[in-house]
Amino acid sequence: MKATARAHTNIALIKYWGKRDRSLILPMNNSLSLTLDGFYTETTVEFHDYLTADVFYLNNDCITGKAYQRVTSFLDRVREKAGRTDVYAEVHSVNHVPTAAGLASSASGFSALAAAASKAIGMQLNNQELSVLTRQGSGSACRSVYGGFVEWEKGLKEDGSDSHAIPIVPANHWDIRVAAAVMSSDAKKILSREGMERTVNTSSFYPSWVESIPADLITIKKGIMHKDFEKVGSIAEANCLRMHATTLAAHPPFTYWQSTTFLIMEAVRDLRSSGVPAYFTIDAGPNVKVLYLPEDEETVQHKLRSIAGVRDVIVSKPGQGISYV
Ligand code: ADP
Ligand code: DP6
Ligand code: CO
Repeated sequence: MKATARAHTNIALIKYWGKRDRSLILPMNNSLSLTLDGFYTETTVEFHDYLTADVFYLNNDCITGKAYQRVTSFLDRVREKAGRTDVYAEVHSVNHVPTAAGLASSASGFSALAAAASKAIGMQLNNQELSVLTRQGSGSACRSVYGGFVEWEKGLKEDGSDSHAIPIVPANHWDIRVAAAVMSSDAKKILSREGMERTVNTSSFYPSWVESIPADLITIKKGIMHKDFEKVGSIAEANCLRMHATTLAAHPPFTYWQSTTFLIMEAVRDLRSSGVPAYFTIDAGPNVKVLYLPEDEETVQHKLRSIAGVRDVIVSKPGQGISYV
C-alpha cells in the first residue's frame, strides 16, 4: 500500500480568490492557470496496519501543528472514500518550491498527496475524480492534476462533485515562459486560506471582483487558443491587480506586496515600453511571476536580475500534470 507521485505547481492567470463552501473548498469563481515545469512536489504515501495515527514529513522534518492537521484531515477524506478508515499513513514529501511563500506549494503539495494517497490505498481514480478529491486539500491544487492551461470550473452542485479542473490545451500547445522573480522564501504571515476568507467577509471590493471574472475568462481563453500573447498577458495582469485590490479594502486591510514587488512591476512596464512583451502576475505572496516569449529570454532575465532585492530568477516552461514515480 505504497505510492509516489509528482505534481507541479501552477500559476493562476485568472485567480481563485474566495470560497462559497469552506469545508468542501468550493470557489466563488472559475479560475484558469498554467502548470509550471520549474516547481514541483514529490510525495510518497505508505499505509500501515500498525500505525495509530498519520505521520507527515516535509523536506525531512516531522511536521506537527496546523500543516499536519491539514494533511491528516485530507487523509481522512481519502480513507472515507476508499472505505478503509482502519489504516494510517506515513507521508514523506519534498517540495522543490519554497513552502507557503506565494509560489503555490499547496497546489503541488496537495495534488501529489492526493495522487499518491489514493493510489496507495487502492483506489483507481480517473483525472476528474482525482481533481475533485485534490480540491478538498487545497483549491488551487485541483488544477495541478493536468498539465498546460487548465480551467477550474466552480460547479453548481452543493456536494462539489462538479467542481473540478478541465484541461484546455496541453503543455506543448504554446511555448511561453514564466520567470519567478523571488525576493523572499519566507512563509507568508497570512496564508491564502485566511487572506481570501477575510476578503470575502469584509472587503467592499469583493462583489465587483466576482462580477469581473466571466468577461476575463472569455477573453483569455480566446487569447490562449489563438496564441495571442498580448491578450493573455494583459488580461492576466489586470486580473491580478484586481484580486490584490480586494485585500486593500478588507477589514483589517492587508497586502501581500513588498517594496521589491513594486520594483518588479515597474521593471515589467519598462520592458513593455521598450517593445518587449512581458506581463506580471502575483499570487498570495510578494514574489512576482513574469510572462514572456522565449525569444526575449535574455532581455527579461537581465532586467529582472538587475533589480535590487531580487535574489533569484527561476524560469519555467508549461509543465505536465500528475505523474507516478
Ligand atoms: P502557497 O503559496 O505556498 O500555496 P498556501 O498558504 O496556499 O501557500 O499554503 C501553504 C500550506 O500548504 C503550508 O502551510 C502547508 O500546510 C501546505 N503544504 C505545502 N506544501 C505541502 C506538501 N508538500 N504536502 C502537504 N501540505 C503542504
Ligand atoms: C492567490 O489554493 O492556496 O494563489 O484552497 O485555501 O488551500 P486553499 O487556497 P489556495 O489559494 C490560492 C490563491 C491564489 C490564486 C490561485 O492560485 O488561483
Ligand atoms: Co496555495
